Parts: sequence; structure tokens; C-alpha cells
Amino acid sequence: MPVVTCIEDLRELAKRRVARAIFEYVDCGSYAEQTLRANRADLEAIALRQRVGIDVDRRSMRTTMAGQEVAMPVALAPTGLTGLNWADGEMLAARAAERFGVPFTLSTMSICSIEDVAGAVTKPYWFQLYVMRDRGFAASLIERAKQAKCSALVLTLDLQIQGQRHRDLKNGLAVPPKLTLATAFDILRKPGWALNVLKGKRKSFGNLEGRIPDAKSLTTLSQWIAGQFDPTLSWKDVEWVKNLWGGKLVLKGILDAEDAKIAASSGADAIVVSNHGGRQLDSTISSIRALPEVVDAVGGRIEVWFDGGIRSGQDVLKALALGARATMIGRAFLYGLGAMGEAGVTRALEIIRNELDVSMALCGLRDVKDASRSILRAP
Ligand code: GLV
Repeated sequence: MPVVTCIEDLRELAKRRVARAIFEYVDCGSYAEQTLRANRADLEAIALRQRVGIDVDRRSMRTTMAGQEVAMPVALAPTGLTGLNWADGEMLAARAAERFGVPFTLSTMSICSIEDVAGAVTKPYWFQLYVMRDRGFAASLIERAKQAKCSALVLTLDLQIQGQRHRDLKNGLAVPPKLTLATAFDILRKPGWALNVLKGKRKSFGNLEGRIPDAKSLTTLSQWIAGQFDPTLSWKDVEWVKNLWGGKLVLKGILDAEDAKIAASSGADAIVVSNHGGRQLDSTISSIRALPEVVDAVGGRIEVWFDGGIRSGQDVLKALALGARATMIGRAFLYGLGAMGEAGVTRALEIIRNELDVSMALCGLRDVKDASRSILRAP
């Protein structure tokens, strides 16, 4: 086994092991991928401020996210098709997160179902909701998440309509994976992945089976989203979801100060500054560029979390310095899952924790909750 020292190592391993259509679904963004690249480039352009002569013994990364204690300010973001990277991937990632002490968020578009994941963990996890045209179905998902004792609902607001991902179309990404000439070739090249995924409990969307006709024989993901997701989703619906759910509510996909102000008055507990990992509106600004204006706009009325391009603990620290209370990671943990299953998710979390810890110390910071602009160099 090669020595894994950073998230990029996990990405390389995942790329070698996972079928191309699935790896590229994870790795790529929408259209020309300008926003995908901006997420990384703008994080890289921020400089941390090295300080010396400060006692940095006994450091702490503990904090809370929507009232929940976390070992570090990093939650696993909701990601579609997780269980096609590694058999039962959602159950494994949820378990790794629980052992580590950080939240796991199950996507509506997961392979393992709400109930599968509930059976794999001992503490509550979080559920992410897409609102479908069929409101009865959306309500039933909320009810199932309640029954499963999920401790927060993450409502995604930036995917009423899907941005086109060129690679998914070129790869004919279908769920469950379809046997075509191209996928047969992939299976021959990635037999370990194919055998592993075949052993999984499910190969299609676990939350939809038996509830949406033909959930077992869905065509392409983008066709399915176009047919089912509700483009009329508005702030009134956020209120509807909030009332039905009645628990901690997180609004994901805020990138604009005006929207942030409305979100802050919505009664939700947190917002996630996000452009969906550069997978939706292309040519919009990076998440890290949007973060300060969102933080200013809400003025402490609601917790502000951040996602978009995080590949290291240094990236987490930069987001905290710019006012995020916490962060979410998507690709960073999926690379770990695709590379080594549950152990890979744990490894990804360890890498980020160790990087965050050392970087805090070298910035002269002992408590992650004290991160502020003072640990950044002026641009
Ligand atoms: C869905 O959430 C996606 O980004 O593919």
C-alpha cells in the first residue's frame, strides 16, 4: 500500500480504482468548470499568517455545529451516488464519521437508504432533502428522517434545476450502472471496483426504491432530476419544510448576501455558503469569495458554514478565519471512500485534522473557535 499523506493521494488511488463514470461524477463540475477551478484557486490564493513566540500547547479543535458537539469543525457533506464508489458507501462513511466525532449527512440521492444508514450507526446522523414535484414524497422523506432520528435536516436550495456536467453525458452516467460497451470496458479495467459494488446491498437510489415507480431502472441521472425536482421551490416552501420537520434546519447553497439575509430571518439554524462544489451555476464566484459578504450580511443571526474546494486542514482554517463557524467536505471524503472504503474516509478526516491542528499552531492559535482574520496576511 502506498504511503498516503494528503487528500490528493486518496484522489489518485480513487481514480485508479473506481469506474471512470463514477469517479468523474465525483471529480468534475458543470460546463467549463470555471467555478470548480475558482473554488480551489481562490482558497490557494489566501495566505495564512505565520506567528512565533506564542505558547501553542494544549490546542482544541472542538466546537459545535447547530448545537451538536463536533471533534473538529468539519462535517461530511451530502453527496449523491456515494455507495457506487464503494459498496454500502453511505453506511461506511456514516460509521467513520461517527467514530471520528463529526456529522455525516445522507443525500436524498444516496444508494443506501435512510433506514440502512440508521441501522449502521448508533448516534443520530443528518439527512439532506431535495424537494420533489411530488410534495407527498418530499413529506414522506422528512417523516422517514424523523423516524430514523436524524438530528438535522439539510435543505439544498441550489439544485432546482441541474447544471450540465459534460462528463456525465459523455459517460452516459446511469443509475444503476448500465452494461454498455463503455461500461463493460470500465469493468474489465476496474474489476476490483465492479466485484465490490456488486456485493453492495443496493445499486440504485435506496430512498426511492418502492416509492418512485421504476427507481430500479432509472435512466440517466440528469433526466431523472429534470423530471422529478421541483423548479418552483421558493422561500414559502422552506417554511413548509421547517414546519413539517420541526428540528434543526440547515439551508445549503447560499452564495449571495441578499439570500443570506432572507435565510437568516427564516428561522433556520445554519446556512452553508456553497456553489454545490462548482457543479451548478458555472462562472459564478467561488464559495470562499462569497463567504465574507454572507458573514457580514447575517451579522451573527445564524450560523454560517462553508463548503467548496476544501482539500486540506489549511483550507478549513482559511474558511474559519473568514468567518465560517464550520465547514463541510464532499470530494475530500469521497476520494478516501473510493480509494479504501471506510478506512479511507477515516484517513481523509485524520489528514484534515492533523493539517488543521499543525496549521493552527503555526499561526499561533490554540482554540479553533478563536480563528479570525488576524491569522491571515492581507492580500
Ligand atoms: C447532486 O447533488 C450532484 O451534485 O450531482
